[in-house]
Amino acid sequence: MGILSLHFPVMLRDDERKFAQDYYSKSVEHRDQHKCGGYPYADGDLLNQIVRLTQTRSVLEIGTAIGYSAYCFAYCNNVSVVTIDMVEQHREIAENNWRDLDVANQIEMITGNSQDVLPTLNQNFDIVFFDGFAPNPNEVNQYCRLVGESGLLITTNHSWNKSTPEFIQEIENNDLNCVLKADTAFSSRDQNKVEMCVELWEKKHETLSESKYI
Ligand SMILES: C[S@@+](CC[C@H](N)C(=O)[O-])C[C@H]1O[C@@H](n2cnc3c(N)ncnc32)[C@H](O)[C@@H]1O
Repeated sequence: MGILSLHFPVMLRDDERKFAQDYYSKSVEHRDQHKCGGYPYADGDLLNQIVRLTQTRSVLEIGTAIGYSAYCFAYCNNVSVVTIDMVEQHREIAENNWRDLDVANQIEMITGNSQDVLPTLNQNFDIVFFDGFAPNPNEVNQYCRLVGESGLLITTNHSWNKSTPEFIQEIENNDLNCVLKADTAFSSRDQNKVEMCVELWEKKHETLSESKYI
């Protein structure tokens, strides 16, 4: 029996999914107009389910854009999110969205470059989610420090990034197990957490044709 058969998360209601879908569309519109790099993460529903599955309480995100993925971690979950973005204009839009969607009290945004901000953070997070432009091998030490002994590191935008092999090697050098699925890597010192994410990812991709991929 797979891990997910034991712990498969509660499915969200249609109206709960609808807010996330609308937010995704709004993020795409923003990126088109602002001409910034704020591409929303392709599967926010996966992020929401991982929080439930792993009983996550705290998330650190690198790459807020206008706040879609931070919302996906937070909605219907008792989780606090710290999210970093270097574009000051994103802050007001993101904070207004979170206020409208009743998650503002769960999310704190820090404006700055992750290279400067990460070394100032001293707590461990249950999940560290990298969704900046290109995963940078030089930042792996910081991510691995911030997930501690049992946290989960989720990193994105691997498929087009030339330094992905070096990045993954750095994760393994820090003694984290790592599995890459399409453009997203799941890593943890806790092998069970990686297996849970992979099983969930594979399950979702099997049924992708039946539900919209957000
Ligand atoms: C792909 S978008 C994030 C999308 C967002 N996670 C979502 O799903 O809606 C990348 C964002 O990362 C920010 N970013 C890129 N590199 C960064 C860095 N080194 N430090 C802080 N923010 C960064 C960009 O300004 C951009 O808004």
